[in-house]
Amino acid sequence: MNTRCASILALTLAFVAGAHAHGDVTPHPIDTSGLAPLGAEWLPANPYRGDAKAVAIGAEGYEHNCAGCHGLNAVSGGVAPDLLKLDGDCLRMGDEAKRKACLDDTDDYFKGIVLRGKRNGEGRYTMPAYASVFTQEAVWSLKSYIDARTLEAAGAK
Ligand code: HEC
Repeated sequence: MNTRCASILALTLAFVAGAHAHGDVTPHPIDTSGLAPLGAEWLPANPYRGDAKAVAIGAEGYEHNCAGCHGLNAVSGGVAPDLLKLDGDCLRMGDEAKRKACLDDTDDYFKGIVLRGKRNGEGRYTMPAYASVFTQEAVWSLKSYIDARTLEAAGAK
């Protein structure tokens, strides 16, 4: 590759990275109409688990809010952690009660991170906090989508 080519490539990459930073990573509210309303009190675990409507709403919310860092279709490109690993162990559990308890734990963990975001050692956000943008319905529909994608990806292997 000659130097002119290389600089055009560098410019293109800078543009793509810039578009991501300003487009895909800005928190967007998720329209959850059609799902049973859950009220203001946070539930300890996802009440929509396995609900097809919640999965579809979560899929759209994910692509608008999370895909820029965690990858399209929740397939990590290495920028941010692979979200398909979150539930992998739980979903492989044969014992129904253990599987439920395990998923309840990851629901709670997921909710905490999505609401508070993540910061590095210097206090800079490496992942935005969504507490001011997402309703409870939005958070649980995202989790329903991650569960569904985890099952799908495991089945595809
Ligand atoms: C600006 C990039 C960015 C966006 C946007 C983003 N994340 Fe993250 N996320 C990260 C990074 C980076 C980490 C790891 C941070 C760390 O461990 O310090 C992370 C960690 C997580 C974790 C913990 C993963 C684990 O294995 O422990 C979850 C869950 C998560 N993100 C969910 C989401 C969801 C859901 C969305 C969309 C609503 C989202 N993230 C949007 C960058 C992002």
